[in-house]
Amino acid sequence: MVENAPMTSPSKSELLLDAAARAARYVAEERDRPVFPTTGAVDRLGSLQFNATLDRPLDAADVIEMLDEIGGAATVANTGGRYFGFVTGGVEPVGLAASVLAGAWDQNAALPVMSPVAAHLDALAAEWIVDLLGLPTDTVATFCAGASIANLTAIITARDTLLRRVGWDTAADGLIGAPPIDIVASAEIHSSALKALRLAGLGTGSVQEIATDELGRARPDAIPSAVLESDRPTLVLLQAGNVNTGHSDPFAAIIERFDPATSWVHVDGAFGLWANAAPDRRHLLDGVELADSWATDGHKWLNTPYDCGVVAVTDPTALESSMAMNAAYAGGDGGRSPMNLGLQMSQGARAIPLWAILATLGRAGVADAIERCCRHAERMAGELAVAGAEVLCPPALNQVLVAFGGDDQTDAVIDRLQSGGEAWMGGTNWHGRRAMRISVSDTSTTGTDIDRAIAAVLAAR
Ligand SMILES: Cc1ncc(COP(=O)(O)O)c(C=O)c1O
Repeated sequence: MVENAPMTSPSKSELLLDAAARAARYVAEERDRPVFPTTGAVDRLGSLQFNATLDRPLDAADVIEMLDEIGGAATVANTGGRYFGFVTGGVEPVGLAASVLAGAWDQNAALPVMSPVAAHLDALAAEWIVDLLGLPTDTVATFCAGASIANLTAIITARDTLLRRVGWDTAADGLIGAPPIDIVASAEIHSSALKALRLAGLGTGSVQEIATDELGRARPDAIPSAVLESDRPTLVLLQAGNVNTGHSDPFAAIIERFDPATSWVHVDGAFGLWANAAPDRRHLLDGVELADSWATDGHKWLNTPYDCGVVAVTDPTALESSMAMNAAYAGGDGGRSPMNLGLQMSQGARAIPLWAILATLGRAGVADAIERCCRHAERMAGELAVAGAEVLCPPALNQVLVAFGGDDQTDAVIDRLQSGGEAWMGGTNWHGRRAMRISVSDTSTTGTDIDRAIAAVLAAR
């Protein structure tokens, strides 16, 4: 006899309402929380493993209560307006609400037949992204876990396409014995693009670097001449938004030096590509549309819930010929199937919260959110400079780099700030100096948050 699944107590609806009420309380208090959890809250995480074990499981309601009370206290408040670490981003309220709804739906977006709503919004959101980011109209965009995966997807597609053009079929023959590919990259390309080269079997040992200028941009006059003179297939890696300075490579001046017949230009624009959605910043990315592929993130500057990356490729056939898979039971209907456009088969419907955000903000709202963060960053840099901090690089977007004397002093300021709980900024190395790295990427950050963050940094000196 087949047994029925046990009835759960409380019911699914009751559990969800309880979790939603707890989530709403968290959100109501998020702006007043310490930006980093207290040591006591982090230490209490250990009690999770005593309260429930594999051999002594708990009731579902108790699990949610424990998760809220012990887990919720040990969160980093990156949605509260005063978190400036990494390039983390907050969460747009409608994106969060849509993800709660979509979580209940539990859709698999791999194939249209698995979820008509996911398929519809996936295609629509992809079209809107291409439009908003000013990419060529034939470009196909698709969603993935983040810019690291987007970089990998694009680099694999570039590799296969470049080799196909010289008569090599990577899908059939792999890489052993394949013709060489020249790889040229900004000397400050993000580490995730280098990791993608490793994972794509191209390695990093032969990368020819383009030296950068004082703002961290690749210099057109520093493209290695050997690569320009060679007629070998060439992969060019550039970036929109240097992870430290926010400045972007001069795309037009670099891309025009390469022959489109033998090269593929990929741009990592994890956060910086969003400058193209803000009319007053678009000039910073002049020529970015001349590339062949782009990586960006929703979860950074668009403030989608985690995780949501985007890869975009001008040649849909190239993307599909690298990413498509063949399973008799999972045949597509010839339409757009996300599992044939990326690395994953099963996948969450990441486009749903992203679509909800774009449908709510519209073009003007996105532009406004990007511009607002840039202005906050400018004010942060200006006021810290007036107060005696050294701004290491004039900000162009949402990133600010400051030092407070020698490296040890700068690190001491970062440590004191981080332990204070009022605002959180990380540290980095920038052109031989230690620096505090400030990223204004939570679009809910207000002028008052910036005042409070500046005061906290100055108090930590
Ligand atoms: C410029 C750049 N590229 C790529 C990445 C990797 O993005 P993700 O963490 O979404 O994989 C980051 C993350 O900070 C980044 O800033």
